[in-house]
Amino acid sequence: MKIFIDTANIDEIRDMNKLGILDGVTTNPSLIAKESGKDFEDIIAEITSLVDGPVSAEVISTDTEGMVKEAKELAAISNNIVIKIPMTKEGLAAVNQLSDQGIKTNVTLVFSANQALLAARAGATYVSPFIGRIDDIGQDGLRLVEEISHIFAIYNIETEIIAASIRHPKHVKESAKVGSDIATIPYQILEKMFKHPKTDEGIEKFLADWEATK
Ligand code: E4P
Repeated sequence: MKIFIDTANIDEIRDMNKLGILDGVTTNPSLIAKESGKDFEDIIAEITSLVDGPVSAEVISTDTEGMVKEAKELAAISNNIVIKIPMTKEGLAAVNQLSDQGIKTNVTLVFSANQALLAARAGATYVSPFIGRIDDIGQDGLRLVEEISHIFAIYNIETEIIAASIRHPKHVKESAKVGSDIATIPYQILEKMFKHPKTDEGIEKFLADWEATK
């Protein structure tokens, strides 16, 4: 499973990118809003200059024409831009047009397998089921990723699944087990994934034993 980072923060992207673990970046309007005082397109341009893989930038318009217009402007920033489009009828009409023009799309706010199937048929490059937000309403987000993965495999659908709205390291491991192509992970959760108390304990013991030989 590939790893994307879910952030618009340049320091976080730099920090993880230097480890060679990042395959891409996803942003959304809420993440961009956290980077106060910075221009949206400047942030996206800076991210694309740091990361070779796909960088998702989301449109704000809700009508097809507006989404397509924004998408073309964003796509002109760099050839690794992916346009994030909300999962609506208007959004899928935009995905269809953008796909015909060779512009990659990530259909976001996917909460059902039928939505994922429709997005894929419209020509989406990626679909993003939101695991954490599904768990929030007492349903099973991972089960949705599993269903989409199963359906896409049966019909050889090339659209890739991005497990999104990841809230803890277990979401990452379970997404990998149910066949998600990608997980987009916040910085704080990536940080947790490095750690294990037995690793820390082991290092401490090795160093103590080494010191004792002196
Ligand atoms: C996906 O691309 C979104 O940016 C993201 O995963 C949303 O997650 P949230 O539910 O934590 O806002």
